[in-house]
Amino acid sequence: MPAAQPAPLAAVPTAAEAESPRTIVDIRRLNLIYQTADQPVTALSDVSLSIAKGDFISLIGPSGCGKTTLMRVIADLEQPSSGDVLVNGMTPEQARLKRAYGYVFQAPALYPWRNVERNVTLPLEIMGMPAAERRTRAGEQLERVGLAGFERKFPWQLSGGMQQRVSIARALAFDPDLLLMDEPFGALDEITRDHLNVNLTRLWLRTRKTCVFVTHSIAEAVFLSTRIVVMSPRPGRILDVIDCARDLPRERTLGIRESPEFQRIAHRVREGLMEGHSYDD
Ligand SMILES: Nc1ncnc2c1ncn2[C@@H]1O[C@H](COP(=O)(O)OP(=O)(O)OP(=O)(O)O)[C@@H](O)[C@H]1O
Ligand SMILES: [Mg+2]
Repeated sequence: MPAAQPAPLAAVPTAAEAESPRTIVDIRRLNLIYQTADQPVTALSDVSLSIAKGDFISLIGPSGCGKTTLMRVIADLEQPSSGDVLVNGMTPEQARLKRAYGYVFQAPALYPWRNVERNVTLPLEIMGMPAAERRTRAGEQLERVGLAGFERKFPWQLSGGMQQRVSIARALAFDPDLLLMDEPFGALDEITRDHLNVNLTRLWLRTRKTCVFVTHSIAEAVFLSTRIVVMSPRPGRILDVIDCARDLPRERTLGIRESPEFQRIAHRVREGLMEGHSYDD
């Protein structure tokens, strides 16, 4: 006789989860129109995308094509005009209430009056977690992003790259399965960005999180991703979904960028972006 199982810590899976346990984000025929004072702005048009557990998806496309909007829909910060979105088999609102995801914004958005540790513990404080547990969690997450020992520093005492790592640690604090990152390294110099890309890919391999990542850099997208979603100019549509996991190993070092496989994928992304873009405007 097997020993009695302890009560499950997580909620019982919904019917949708049970049917498709590996699908973390399921977007079907999504349209989003912003109502503005002068005229409606169609930001997303007929977007369908299925993201599997453990995927690292990059969204790439011209400025204003709806990448942030798409992330905000997944995070329940925007409401679709039509279409269906499921996150972990739940509506985005249910997923938000269950803290199914962590969100890293384009700017680190840290509070200057809180030290590094207290920035990371803020969402845990809001959750009502006891102080000692909050500190332990913050320590673990800061260690993960290579910032152990910086707990007492203030954001303004850190470099831009370190600040972004603090915001990644904060997004990881309640250990969500899904990490949404909107151009987290966009404002950094190339060397720092390379370094953080290597760290992020290691973190992803170690934690097996599902990541959705927005970038304007083709090299960054190819280096990090299992799949790259190429979007058209506004209204954002999906032009191409490129599988990087087939030809590139999961564990990657920067040297891989010189490989013919890497170059071939980068070329296809570039072609997709050029095809979708009219340079005659
Ligand atoms: N709150 C809003 N109200 C009205 N229009 C909006 C709103 N937010 C975004 N838009 C418009 O929707 C379109 C998509 O915006 P979004 O921020 O998603 O683009 P993006 O792909 O993230 O661009 P970037 O690469 O510059 O960050 C843009 O044309 C933008 O002007
Ligand atoms: Mg954006």
